[in-house]
Amino acid sequence: MMRLDGKSALITGAARGIGLEFARAYAAEGARVAICDINAQAAADAAAALGDAAIAVRLDVTDQKSIDTCVAEVEEAFGGIDILVNNAALFTAAPLTEITRADYDRIFAVNVSGTLFMMQAVARVMIRRGSGGRIINMASQAGRRGEPLVAVYCASKAAVISLTQSAGLNLIRHGINVNAIAPGVVEGEHWDGVDAFFAKYEGKEPGQKKAEVAAAVPHGRMGTAADLTGMAIFLASNEADYILAQTYNVDGGQWMS
Ligand SMILES: NC(=O)c1ccc[n+]([C@@H]2O[C@H](COP(=O)([O-])OP(=O)(O)OC[C@H]3O[C@@H](n4cnc5c(N)ncnc54)[C@H](O)[C@@H]3O)[C@@H](O)[C@H]2O)c1
Repeated sequence: MMRLDGKSALITGAARGIGLEFARAYAAEGARVAICDINAQAAADAAAALGDAAIAVRLDVTDQKSIDTCVAEVEEAFGGIDILVNNAALFTAAPLTEITRADYDRIFAVNVSGTLFMMQAVARVMIRRGSGGRIINMASQAGRRGEPLVAVYCASKAAVISLTQSAGLNLIRHGINVNAIAPGVVEGEHWDGVDAFFAKYEGKEPGQKKAEVAAAVPHGRMGTAADLTGMAIFLASNEADYILAQTYNVDGGQWMS
């Protein structure tokens, strides 16, 4: 028997990167997966590649109507939602004196409000059904401490850790376990964007920041999305029944807590 047999999962921002790898991993463990993303075409392509186990639904986590429509669609398609992964997020960087209100609002709308109101919408579905559930939020090592050029993103991920704690304590009475994963530095398009910010603000060559952060990871390399799937499956499985409100570092040893 596979570890997520008969379960249904909604993953936000699953059209690429870590969310897509989680969708593949959950499907391989027997779950049906809704790949929900603002990039509808990429989500559809990803779902088609996964076959019968997957559906694609367009979702903008900054738009309450889009959240409500997406959650209703997934509930109807799967007859309920057992697992929510709040994975969609944006990154930004700037010296404090150059941060704009518009950029702050944009990042917080996706990373923080998006996480909160997705938890709310899916928790309502889970509570109505009465079978409990699992919610996994994607935090970050960036949420553990500030960084000179990354105030807004770091604060947004610290908020995700805090929301995980409050939601975890509030929802366990309904049998819903809320936890988070804090990755370190993970190869992919997201980090290509991060590297470009550091090239701009620290005068580095393209790829230089990436090489530096990889060298600083105690494990000796950057992480991959596949490095995170073990924790994502575990937290979604029955084995994690007694775990709630926690944020787990999966970062090659970068942060100790
Ligand atoms: N890559 C890393 O090094 C790293 C490190 C720590 C934490 N994380 C976190 O892991 C998660 C996944 O990261 P990733 O590297 O796969 O990122 P990514 O940028 O590759 O993927 C993010 C996905 O979210 C989608 N998205 C963006 N805005 C959206 C919106 N408004 N509504 C719905 N979907 C939206 C994008 O279309 C994209 O498919 C994020 O929460 C990120 O902050 C990543």
